[in-house]
Amino acid sequence: MPTHQSIGGASDDELLQRMVATHPERFGEPYWELVTAHVAPHLPPSPVIVDLGCGPGLLLRDFGERYPAATLYGYDVTAAMIARGRALSFTWAKPTFALHDVTTQPLPHSAGSVHLVSMSSVLHVIDEPLSVLAEIRRVLAPGGIFLLHDWIRQPLAAYLAWRRDILGESQTGRGYRLFPVHNKYTTEDWRWLLAETGFTIRYQQQLRASHQIFVAMPAL
Ligand SMILES: C[S@@+](CC[C@H](N)C(=O)[O-])C[C@H]1O[C@@H](n2cnc3c(N)ncnc32)[C@H](O)[C@@H]1O
Repeated sequence: MPTHQSIGGASDDELLQRMVATHPERFGEPYWELVTAHVAPHLPPSPVIVDLGCGPGLLLRDFGERYPAATLYGYDVTAAMIARGRALSFTWAKPTFALHDVTTQPLPHSAGSVHLVSMSSVLHVIDEPLSVLAEIRRVLAPGGIFLLHDWIRQPLAAYLAWRRDILGESQTGRGYRLFPVHNKYTTEDWRWLLAETGFTIRYQQQLRASHQIFVAMPAL
């Protein structure tokens, strides 16, 4: 199974720890205000929600707390992430977590059966995103939402300053290694990819300098 070992030299465990440590800042109140205003109005009372590349499962836990009638699924290619998600305690219904590679396996959901697919900081690592986007479109219900949250290109100086000031990295080696990974797509590139695969963008917002969020829907 591929892991993040090859990306920026971080082991699966380091990536897991970083995802957990940065979760509150990445998914704070501004994120949930966006979800409340631009996603929730499109969801039925008991939505099916899928998080692709769910990492340690914390976003699904947060969705479960806000939408207790939802049925939740988390998929990730890294066994350590799935194990962490399964070990979380849940106030409401526990999500189904499964080991899954979105580049080689179809999603285990029938066409038109999912109301919200979330993908956060994952699609940029996929070599060929078109087939993954097509599969997301297949499983989405009419009027369903694809919530894409991913890195956008920044100037090198800004990216290195962010790693130094926010992540507290004193050496620039990892920053130079990860720059091409995290700065692969512009906002316009993401918009183009979504349009190419039959999505209409209903809303987009940049909550942080490094990331853009798109609320997309299958085009009619
Ligand atoms: C940067 S982490 C983000 C995790 C989580 N979405 C979050 O924001 O906390 C990227 C995640 O994508 C997963 N991933 C990478 N390639 C994948 C693939 N082909 N199929 C499924 N998951 C994948 C990794 O294992 C990792 O957990």
